[in-house]
Amino acid sequence: MVIFGASGDLTARKILPALAHLAERGVLDQGFSLIGVARTPWSDSEFRQQVARATPDGGDRWRAIVAEARYVSGDYGEDRTYRRLAELLEESDESRSTAGNRLFYLATIPGLFGRIAGALSDHGCARSDVEGSFSRIVIEKPFGRDLASAQELDREIHRAFNEDQIYRIDHYMGKETVQNVLALRFANAIFEPVWNRQYIEEVQVTVAENIGVEHRGGFYEHAGALRDMIQNHVMQVLALTLMESPTSTDADRVRDEKVKLLQAIAIPTPDEAVDRSVRGQYGPGVIDSQPVVGYREEEDVAPDSQTETFLALRLKVENWRWAGVPIFVRTGKRLPVRMTEVALTFKPVPFLLFNERTSRDLRQNVLVLRIQPEEGISLEFGAKVPGEKFHLRSVEMDFSYAKEFAGSRAAGGYERLIHDAMVGDATLFIRSDEVEQAWRIVDPYLTAWSEPGGALSFYPAGSWGPHMADLLIERSGGEWRNHDPAT
Ligand code: BG6
Repeated sequence: MVIFGASGDLTARKILPALAHLAERGVLDQGFSLIGVARTPWSDSEFRQQVARATPDGGDRWRAIVAEARYVSGDYGEDRTYRRLAELLEESDESRSTAGNRLFYLATIPGLFGRIAGALSDHGCARSDVEGSFSRIVIEKPFGRDLASAQELDREIHRAFNEDQIYRIDHYMGKETVQNVLALRFANAIFEPVWNRQYIEEVQVTVAENIGVEHRGGFYEHAGALRDMIQNHVMQVLALTLMESPTSTDADRVRDEKVKLLQAIAIPTPDEAVDRSVRGQYGPGVIDSQPVVGYREEEDVAPDSQTETFLALRLKVENWRWAGVPIFVRTGKRLPVRMTEVALTFKPVPFLLFNERTSRDLRQNVLVLRIQPEEGISLEFGAKVPGEKFHLRSVEMDFSYAKEFAGSRAAGGYERLIHDAMVGDATLFIRSDEVEQAWRIVDPYLTAWSEPGGALSFYPAGSWGPHMADLLIERSGGEWRNHDPAT
């Protein structure tokens, strides 16, 4: 496995710990070899020290891999970087029996993806299925910054690698609870019959974070919540939640259904894009009882930045299953809690038998898929409060991963996905048509906001976003499911 961007933050925080866990679980092949590539002028031994530092808990198996790890220091634009890499790869085929199998992980800035892919191909590293060996490339998000640049990047990468060699990663697809959406929907008889517009009144997806932009202001300024979270993570979660049943779990059968769902999401006109979206940016506020600065005061952020750190959208899915059901999605940084969930609110009963006064605490049924942090699924339904009168209120039936599967360590998203890429299972990776379709959906917002009127609202850090976001959902008679940090 070759990691480009080997001295970077993503490698240290996510990729190396995932590899160390895979090694510990004994699922890495014996000859597994690690090569880092980056500009930082490290020697092999300095790289090994850095890897060891990033994976302090690595066991013996991992330590043996690290002891043999190699490093190429060089410019990504220079030929000799790739010549050196090709030499090391051949060496490891001989000394470690890696048999010509290569997994290239691009953890660099996105601007380098096309160039690296092209250079790998020029140096004979992109061949697929040469005498049974494989060569695959894993590409991090963001894949493009809009539809046109994503298509251009795709063309560049396709000049070097075939689609079946390309693994576009979205770490949300590696989360157990995101995958469990498939299990819940398609391994149970009771949900699918009611999973449609006849029974469901509204779908709400929230991806809330309490962290700010941390040290990524420079990156985030050019991204914003739409590109950073909605185009990828939120669209993926939505696709799994709303798609039709695939005919098998084969990579292409699952991805075909996701694409069809994304194709059914209505593309807004510029006016609709403005009308159905609320963009916000956090100002100073309080998180966990601590004062925090506003976005414009963060490192590497312009003092008059127009970048959104919060976004709420009302989407429409134009197909038989979902016609007329409003789909609300929102994501934001510096919200009160870290919480990702999908909530499906069911229609009210056609006629309420019970006295409205004694059943005022009775809400419509809601099925909540809690993606993180307290992973689980809950169903809210009405129950009779014990006593003489028919007093009703909503109660919750709750399934918790932590309780049910106590002791089993949920593999982090990266661990699962890196392993899948190694064994050639692309089911949880994003196909090129999915990426395109997701950009097609979000592009009109980018265009609409660049016009006058694409206004930005502000919200204090630690709140649930701008007031305008409440109005967006209230217009359809709903409200956001906000959680108190304490509950
Ligand atoms: C990343 C975004 O893709 O996902 C970050 O770039 C965000 O801005 C992160 O913080 C959230 O991931 P998770 O797994 O913590 O929900």
